[in-house]
Amino acid sequence: PLPLVKAGPLSGRHVIVTSGPTHEAIDPVRYIANRSSGKQGHAIAAAAAAAGARVTLVSGPVTLPDPKGCAVVRVESAREMFAAVNDALPADVFIGAAAVADWRVEAAAHKIKKEQGASAPAFSLVENPDILASVARASRRPRLVVGFAAETRDVIAHARQKLNRKGCDLIVANDVSEGSGVFGGDANEAHLVSSGGVESWPRMSKEAVAARLVGRIAEIIADSEA
Ligand code: CTP
Ligand code: CA
Repeated sequence: PLPLVKAGPLSGRHVIVTSGPTHEAIDPVRYIANRSSGKQGHAIAAAAAAAGARVTLVSGPVTLPDPKGCAVVRVESAREMFAAVNDALPADVFIGAAAVADWRVEAAAHKIKKEQGASAPAFSLVENPDILASVARASRRPRLVVGFAAETRDVIAHARQKLNRKGCDLIVANDVSEGSGVFGGDANEAHLVSSGGVESWPRMSKEAVAARLVGRIAEIIADSEA
């Protein structure tokens, strides 16, 4: 018979992971996106499932296959991702690996036309909900809330600020400046930032970063129950 709960260090835990970019519609045929591939978030979801957790992966548009053993909810926009995460709560752990668009456009109902002699359209942007900050302050707050910080300079200082500003427990900070190869690439050089300090990991595959992060999360939960 199929076991209902898989054995492992996260057995019996519910883990929500966000992954990938979001697409923010400009009109019915155009959107604003970003360079996130979803590789790191999907690898984390797979690693959490392999560690025995029940995993809900809320994914923006990616070209990756669904990771094994995860319930996958596909969304497009930041607001859809926000709603899907709230629907998936409660959870023991939330990991926000998605590159959520900070702003959206008030989308036009019809395709914007290039009219003869008319000037280029101007877009006014509206701020999207901050999913990570909202989960960290929710009444049903997961016991461990983990965010990512993609930075192009002052990586650790910015990560520390994000940790405090968003009220999360851990930030996985990485340098996504040009030449780092993190966006779309297969490797990552991560710094794990908490109120207790910084752990800097050597450059390794995104799968290895995922396994190590899930291992640390399992340790932190076990310690908090000891
Ligand atoms: N995040 C989120 N919802 C948003 C924006 C960001 O959940 N609307 C999450 C990301 O998934 C990530 C963390 O917040 O885990 C940090 O995202 P980042 O873009 O680095 O932080 P921002 O606060 O948006 O700051 P900035 O883009 O100005 O660096
Ligand atoms: Ca942002």
